[in-house]
Amino acid sequence: EQTLREAATNRDFRIGAALAARALRSDPSYWKAARNEFNAVTPENALKMGPLRPSPHTYDFTDADAIVDFGRENDMYVRGHTLVWHNQKPEWFQAWDYTDDQLRKFLRDHIHTVVGRYRSSIDAWDVVNEAVADDGTLRETVWYDALGEEYLDLAFQWAREVNPEADLYYNDYGADAINEKSDAIYDLLERLLERDVPIDGVGLQFHALAGRPDPESVAENIRRFQDLGLDVQITEMDVANAVDDQPEDPLAEQADYYREIVEVCLETDCDTLVTWGVHDGSTWLRNFKDFSKRYTDDPLLFDDGYEPKPAYDAVKGALSGT
Ligand code: G3I
Repeated sequence: EQTLREAATNRDFRIGAALAARALRSDPSYWKAARNEFNAVTPENALKMGPLRPSPHTYDFTDADAIVDFGRENDMYVRGHTLVWHNQKPEWFQAWDYTDDQLRKFLRDHIHTVVGRYRSSIDAWDVVNEAVADDGTLRETVWYDALGEEYLDLAFQWAREVNPEADLYYNDYGADAINEKSDAIYDLLERLLERDVPIDGVGLQFHALAGRPDPESVAENIRRFQDLGLDVQITEMDVANAVDDQPEDPLAEQADYYREIVEVCLETDCDTLVTWGVHDGSTWLRNFKDFSKRYTDDPLLFDDGYEPKPAYDAVKGALSGT
């Protein structure tokens, strides 16, 4: 029987997983599932500024290299996540009393160094992550405060300068279907394109934690971004439930929903779907702040023992047309 990876590859589709270096090193089952079942990878944390920048003038690429090398050696598509974000900044950052100019120079150096290092090994970058707040305004971040909306322009330009080959994405959550937030992102990206900012695509994270974005609305949303000339990928998918509001058969419901979204992808030529982890044992929902109390913690395609779940069969079935 074919693997999920084979089913995806046969269909020119990329099915991916977010990876952690520690698990790759220490857990052979994790390594094996990642390699055999997926043809795309995203480092879950290793390429973020915090992990990469232990001190102002040093970089630690150990974990990022391990994951990117794993992807390349196994002939996978590699997504870089992420260059500019308000979260997971280095700890020393808090105490840094910078001027706007220093911050601008810092960000430029960061992007040049990181994108440059992976020039021949990272296919696509989430250049800016989650710049839009839930009410649709631009999020007040250190980048926005110092540089205004132009920080997005600069980030994409700096990334393009060092790697003209990589595809450059804007990535966000809660914008999977047509809603206020995806409207605001649409307007933002339209402005960037009008200013000739080098942006190639938009990543819909797709953390379906409690709500289930309506598949038809998701398709419509994907199409409107494509009509702007942007590529669309699903970049961080998982499917959970509110702990106090679960369907009768959660695994079957989860499988059906994964299937519907893969079908939307196939229908709209959105050719990449990355799940946010390999197996339930590695989901962020197990140890992330109060999320772990509010949501169920089995949102992925493999269970704790690396057995394929109904959702795995559903995704594979949708890809192989069975
Ligand atoms: O690696 C350190 C470890 O050295 C330390 O001992 C431990 C103690 O807290 O923390 C470890 O770092 C944690 C890291 O995950 C690795 O497990 C961080 O505290 C924790 O904050 C971090 O959480 C990550 C989160 O982003 C940070 O905001 C999650 O793993 C990661 O899945 C999550 O991913 C985000 C995407 O980047 C953007 N979209 C939303 C998505 C889910 O929140």
